[in-house]
Amino acid sequence: MTMPSYDFVMTGLQLLSTLFVFAVGLGVLAVVVLFIIDSIQTKDAVRKNYPVLGRFRYLFSMLGEFFRQYFFAMDREEMPFNRAEREWVHRAAQDKDNTVAFGSTKNLNSPGTAIFVNCPFPTLDEDAVEMQPMQIGPYCKIPYNAPSFFNISGMSYGALSTPAVRALSKGAHMAGCWMNTGEGGLSPYHLEGGADIVFQIGTAKYGVRDEAGNLSDEKLKEIAAHEQVRMFELKMSQGAKPGKGGILPGIKVTPQIAKIRGIPEGQDSTSPNRHPEINNPGEILDVINHVREVTGKPVGFKTVIGSFGWIEEMCKEIHARGIEAAPDFITIDSGDGGTGAAPMPLMDNVGLVVKESLPLVSDILHKYGLRDRIRLVSSGKLITPSEVAWAIATGADFVTSARGFMFSLGCIQALKCNKNTCPTGITTHNKRLQKGLNPEDKAIKVAAYCKNIVHEVQIISHSCGVTRPRLMGRKHVRIVQDNGKSVPMDELYPRPDIFPEYSRHRGLFGSGSKKPTCRWC
Ligand SMILES: Cc1cc2nc3c(=O)[nH]c(=O)nc-3n(C[C@H](O)[C@H](O)[C@H](O)COP(=O)(O)O)c2cc1C
Repeated sequence: MTMPSYDFVMTGLQLLSTLFVFAVGLGVLAVVVLFIIDSIQTKDAVRKNYPVLGRFRYLFSMLGEFFRQYFFAMDREEMPFNRAEREWVHRAAQDKDNTVAFGSTKNLNSPGTAIFVNCPFPTLDEDAVEMQPMQIGPYCKIPYNAPSFFNISGMSYGALSTPAVRALSKGAHMAGCWMNTGEGGLSPYHLEGGADIVFQIGTAKYGVRDEAGNLSDEKLKEIAAHEQVRMFELKMSQGAKPGKGGILPGIKVTPQIAKIRGIPEGQDSTSPNRHPEINNPGEILDVINHVREVTGKPVGFKTVIGSFGWIEEMCKEIHARGIEAAPDFITIDSGDGGTGAAPMPLMDNVGLVVKESLPLVSDILHKYGLRDRIRLVSSGKLITPSEVAWAIATGADFVTSARGFMFSLGCIQALKCNKNTCPTGITTHNKRLQKGLNPEDKAIKVAAYCKNIVHEVQIISHSCGVTRPRLMGRKHVRIVQDNGKSVPMDELYPRPDIFPEYSRHRGLFGSGSKKPTCRWC
């Protein structure tokens, strides 16, 4: 090996030092230019008063958004989902050991915390009962026996990328749960994995609209002809944006998405803020019955609850028409539900959270003797076993999740769903960013997450002394109050009596009784 000559080394060093001086000079020049720009501009007070330095404020607050979750936030601190919750889902999705060591990091004294009431004599493993399918739509031509109590909530193809939809569809099939299309119509990717599909009819009726944007019976029949499409869900409202239609930024309206939805390519796609033809509870029933007649499949609706007198009115109307006319299910979404894009005030402050609305709606249906006829689906931050178990004990027949399944796909809560820059490829149509999302690999994770939720909800129910989750009732949960003491949920939300004139429908549709197996619990 020959040593480089002295001249060669010196020339190299000279070049480097020239480059260094040049770079420093450029840096100084940039600072001077920025100083002048900041000093003469009048739009930003911080930059005006602290030229150049003021810019670091914006840089740091942008970087803070990314670094907080790694370095600064405590395990139970972040919103919408804290690290402990996200990590639980990630481990469940990898089918890894999901036990934790040393002790709970959850503050069990904080008001609202649900504490399950363990039985002194928990259910023996050999007495545990496997998850049973539950029938939805007893009066339909083709009712649906839904195998799983935990399912994938609506997220449209458009808000989600192609590989994300493919992974969810395949994963749902592997886990035996349903996948809701969201309001963006049915794509080939929903079908290719073989999952049971719930087709959502949004306010723009994407995928089932005629030229004028009205509901098309012909298109409904085409969609219903797919055996995989098991149910239809009319979207009245969504927790993250009640009273506002879906928003898909133009940058995400690719040629294929435009074709599936029946809209122009590359333009923002904003759905009407409600179904224009539905003005009262009776008209919800009209549309539901029409879709059920055309498709032969169960039909329900999704809503977030604000006022709830209209549900009572709907129950009376159902009895006036006959209980066949009832929706086959109602999905109660939480005011703190997620979305691809929504105005912050709607996201933050409009619509009740499911912790409050689920018991309310369940009780109204119960009073009118419709609790068994209408299946209750519940969604909104129910992504860990204890949340899902809470919903089932409170009155839900099914729980669905959107963001839980996004975490199982690898979501890192970057909060970029509205930007087409999702770093994990889940909510972007940028091919480069999608590369990290392998549908085959992620499908396994989706399925593992679903199965582990079901498994751990079963564990909670056994600890409460019942043989399966749907036997849990409100008395199995206590809610911590402001004074630190817990109160049984059946005291906080006592089951009302059924109006005598409606009691004949009770138990007709096989929800099963919630009789205890242990006389002390
Ligand atoms: C990216 C994204 C897209 C969504 N798209 C829809 C949609 O098309 N229709 C709908 O009814 N809800 C939509 N939602 C709301 C979810 O279905 C769900 O109701 C809500 O996020 C609460 O569940 P979660 O807390 O488990 O996410 C979307 C949510 C997300 C995060």
